[in-house]
Amino acid sequence: MKVFVFVLSLISLGFADDEINSRYFPKSFKFAVANAATQIEGGWLEDGKTESIWDHFAHTHPEKIGDHSTPDIACDSYHKYKEDVAMVKAMGLDYYRLSIAWTRILPTGYPDKINQAGVQYYKNLFAELKAVNVEPMVTLYHWDLPQALEDELGGWLNETVADLFAEYARVCFELFKDDVKMWITINEPKQVCQAGYGSGYYAPGVVSDGIGEYICSKNLIMAHAKAYHIYDNEFRATNQGRVTMVIDTSWSEPGSDSAENQEAAERALQFGFGLYANPIFIGNWPQVVIDRIAQRSELEGFATSRLPAFTDEEIAYVKGTYDYLGLNHYATKMVNATADAPIGDPAYWKDISVSTWGKPEWPNGAGDWFSVVPWGLRHLLVWLKKTYGDVEIVITENGLSDTTGIIEDDHRISYYQGYLSACLDAIYEDGVNLSTYTAWSIIDDWEWTSGYGIFLGMHYVNFTDPERTRIPRKSAGWFTNMVKTRCLVDTCTE
Ligand code: BGC
Repeated sequence: MKVFVFVLSLISLGFADDEINSRYFPKSFKFAVANAATQIEGGWLEDGKTESIWDHFAHTHPEKIGDHSTPDIACDSYHKYKEDVAMVKAMGLDYYRLSIAWTRILPTGYPDKINQAGVQYYKNLFAELKAVNVEPMVTLYHWDLPQALEDELGGWLNETVADLFAEYARVCFELFKDDVKMWITINEPKQVCQAGYGSGYYAPGVVSDGIGEYICSKNLIMAHAKAYHIYDNEFRATNQGRVTMVIDTSWSEPGSDSAENQEAAERALQFGFGLYANPIFIGNWPQVVIDRIAQRSELEGFATSRLPAFTDEEIAYVKGTYDYLGLNHYATKMVNATADAPIGDPAYWKDISVSTWGKPEWPNGAGDWFSVVPWGLRHLLVWLKKTYGDVEIVITENGLSDTTGIIEDDHRISYYQGYLSACLDAIYEDGVNLSTYTAWSIIDDWEWTSGYGIFLGMHYVNFTDPERTRIPRKSAGWFTNMVKTRCLVDTCTE
């Protein structure tokens, strides 16, 4: 049975992109939901936790947060984690993706003092998950650098922070070695660097377009690699876990089939995703990124490229530091080449030199960077296979935002149906090695600069109620049934 959802005008590469696939998900396929410490935990200074850069940013720059809110309480999961786990259980999920707050485990940022109360919180959470047979998928760094390390060392602009991250990772690997098998070092390095140390739009708000953000990129990649090697050398043999970095990207669809626009779309992917994936999966920065930044840096009068080079030893050290590919995906963009911007102040967008837009017929979530284009995910999965080989792919985030928070969220059901169908197409038609799908998110949360103003949860949270009551949306029921039947339509075929 075929069900039509989004009638999209663009049918390319012969993909039947607008039909819901009626095959069953393979028996081994896993389903998950995700969240992150800052966005749900609250308890921001409780039991020894200290301030992270996001706590600090929200408190010192309320004007940068849509509703001037803070994550001080958020969903209060620090106290209500049992309710969260009960929801995960009720949905029949395989994994619960969560993050550990660095400031809850190591309040100074350094491994000099381990905060036992913080350790106990995660121990309790893991025990609760174990009791209901759900595996944790754990991110060590979901954007919440200890503010102390920003103040004292300049945060991710200082390579010492990569060593400190590795020490923090070792502490967590040791503390939770019996609880966690699925590790993620860093979530979305592009957002950390581009928005945190480039545009300044995200915490810590450093504006250093085309300069700081690349320094941050190298330091984050080295931080990831150091943590990976620690796991590999000290824990893998006994604990048999898996480690990777999670990288996010939109799909870039060429605006036409001209060679120029095809190259521009590829360039956008390389500057966004390849910047982080290439060193890890292939070795070194992507060549197009090296060449363009070097060329513009020289014309701008810099003595060396604004993109810090990797030494040969570093290239070899970073290459291969993955056990699977973690992908966050939310949007698709049309991409064309543009004329290079005149030489002047450096900027990331000038280095890429593309124009992007969304088709007017594409539905949007909260804002046009949440464009709803299920076939974009399929094209992206095929591109990942072509570019990085037959590596196992875990979708670590995908979901729909809205501004209404409506309980009868049929639009979110259509969204999941469309995107999960794209996953089935990629698995069965394109032979993509996709093992897991993680929805963002199980509950509404504190959405960074959007505060509590946009909603992505399959459960509504009443943020004005001190109890932070959670109420299932219609999509929670649909998703639960989908996980149970492993099928997106009324009748599926083998
Ligand atoms: C982040 C999440 C965020 C989600 C939806 C992703 O970029 O990893 O923390 O909530 O997007 O906005």
